[in-house]
Amino acid sequence: MGTPPEAAERVGSLRAQIDRYNYHYYVLDDPLIPDGEFDRLLRELQILERKYPELVTPASPTQRVGARPLEAFEEVEHKVPMLSLDNALNDRELEDFDRRVRERLEVAAPIIYAAEPKLDGLAINLRYESGMLVQAATRGDGEHGEDVTQNVRTIPSVPLQLLDGDWPEVLEVRGEIFMPTAGFEKFNRSALEKGEKTFANPRNAAAGSLRQLDPRITAQRPLAMFCYGFGDLSVADLAVTYSAAIGLLPRWGLPVSPELRRVEGVTGCQHYYRELEKRRFQLGYEIDGIVFKVDDLGQQRSLGFVTRHPRWAIARKFPPQEEMTRLLAIEVQVGRTGAVTPVARLEPVNVAGVTVTNATLHNADEVRRKDIRVGDTVVIRRAGDVIPQVVRVLPERRPPDLIEFRMPSHCPECGSDLIRDGDGVVLRCSGGLYCPAQRKEAIKHFASRRALDIEGLGDRLVDQLVEKGVIETPADLFTKLNPAILSGLERMGEKSARNLCAALEKSKETTLARFLYALGIREVGETTAHALAQHFGNLAGLMKADTESLLAVPDVGPVVAEHIHAFFHQMHNREVITALQSAGIRWNDTQAARAEQQPLAGKTLVLTGTLSRPRAEIKEQLQALGAKVSGSVSGKTDYLVAGEDAGSKLDKAGKLGVAVLDEKGLEKLLQSVGHA
Ligand code: IVH
Repeated sequence: MGTPPEAAERVGSLRAQIDRYNYHYYVLDDPLIPDGEFDRLLRELQILERKYPELVTPASPTQRVGARPLEAFEEVEHKVPMLSLDNALNDRELEDFDRRVRERLEVAAPIIYAAEPKLDGLAINLRYESGMLVQAATRGDGEHGEDVTQNVRTIPSVPLQLLDGDWPEVLEVRGEIFMPTAGFEKFNRSALEKGEKTFANPRNAAAGSLRQLDPRITAQRPLAMFCYGFGDLSVADLAVTYSAAIGLLPRWGLPVSPELRRVEGVTGCQHYYRELEKRRFQLGYEIDGIVFKVDDLGQQRSLGFVTRHPRWAIARKFPPQEEMTRLLAIEVQVGRTGAVTPVARLEPVNVAGVTVTNATLHNADEVRRKDIRVGDTVVIRRAGDVIPQVVRVLPERRPPDLIEFRMPSHCPECGSDLIRDGDGVVLRCSGGLYCPAQRKEAIKHFASRRALDIEGLGDRLVDQLVEKGVIETPADLFTKLNPAILSGLERMGEKSARNLCAALEKSKETTLARFLYALGIREVGETTAHALAQHFGNLAGLMKADTESLLAVPDVGPVVAEHIHAFFHQMHNREVITALQSAGIRWNDTQAARAEQQPLAGKTLVLTGTLSRPRAEIKEQLQALGAKVSGSVSGKTDYLVAGEDAGSKLDKAGKLGVAVLDEKGLEKLLQSVGHA
């Protein structure tokens, strides 16, 4: 019995669709269909292939993970060696590089450089023959690497088959495999929750994931790739310049960095460096510098190589994200929800431009696993605004006789028993609001900028007020404080006391979403608070909701629904809410009315560049009007709001024909819906 022609036809059509959606998703960063629809197509293809195995081909999107675990990786000899880059650690070294380039080329005019991020992952060589991925190899020692083809096939942004086009018969592209920050943090968070080993940084995570003998493990890790060079080719050159050659890749389905620019001379390089250094922590993946490459391939050829690196390229490094220092003490901190975490007190050390004196140690299991002891020399890592972390100790620097760290059995703040959370890793103080630490944290959260935004109510002041027994709940802020009481406190003049009272008064007028966030319900962050406010429109409805109706809210799963339900059924919480409302906390219910009736309902906006107000503030204003504010430009974006120094998002909006608004345009839009 032969294969029915309809089946073969459907299989072909499904593959073409899936490849195209993948390309839009991973290369163009422009998803065409919802994930659920994509999964449905893939599943249909899997079912058909299972029924008609003769239709399976190696490049089918179902074949990314198929192979069995390996015993060991095979060695691969690189046809063209994979070299490394020389570094410039400051502006002067970059100027020296540029001077050497011009002297060798004997040109006085500024050189055109291709500038792009130096990705912090690991280098890979992909070999395509007749458009099919036949081999993926790590760099190894530059001459010989390891065959990791099975694993690389599981990375969704790497095409198994090049898209239609004029690719050369043999095409070796080189690039970096990396783990985007969000995926890295998610991976570590879940490892911490399960009490499993975490990765020290995204680079290690990418390397560790790629060097798995079992490709099914690699397939579960969120890896990505950008291409930045070539190896063996069956043609001489693909173009006259590096940037033009790299520019061909996306058409063939190969991803390249959206940050690639051509810049003029060393001043152009420096300008690019400064600009990207500012955005370094917002890219979504880690970079440790900028690579500048002479763009003209003829000039590259005449410059040639010195031993291990090209004379036509240099890596201008950023300040490192990891430094070492001494661990002076481990203190135990009690958070708002009672979770108890060990915190490292450190000898001050500058990490990527910021002085670090404290770092998180996550939880007791993690301290034990890494065997971190007071007196150790430790490696500290800082990634953007994230709390610095202790990643490991340097055992060779350990003085003798350091003692192992032990968690206390009772809360250091209130003496209550510490109990293990449901799945065992998190220790929690059982004191609840009896515990002054939890009370303090609950009030600080309530007053914080994204909650009720009470200006002038600093952490120290809250500590004092709770310790002196002046206040116990957020409601007490409005009923127990007055200028007389406040000016009697340490470091509190009459003027600041009056200002704080005015700020308290001002904070009473708020939004339902802010109020819900301020309550500090477990697992209810800003996004969930927003979704709840949108869905219910008023507090009474939400307080009455059972878990089933809570599950109908986008962003709310069973665990969160349970937390919300339990919170509103605690007598104590209901009393605080009533007290807050009688103290005059108010919001406009209609502001949170159903999304579809709002003036910007159904509109998607993206914010980019430097704007005159904080992005979070604009975002909140737009969301309150029913708009969706997204992080990346796609075919579904209605407006891109572009401030100064807008970069790749602006280019992309141009390509996709998305309307671009400057700040004036945004104000006009807001005026037109009556909210400027
Ligand atoms: S070009 C012959 N471009 O840095 C030049 N390398 O120290 C080959 N890297 O092994 C490299 N981002 O792993 C180049 N945009 C980029 C890069 C980059 C990261 C890594 C790569 C290489 C190392 C060189």
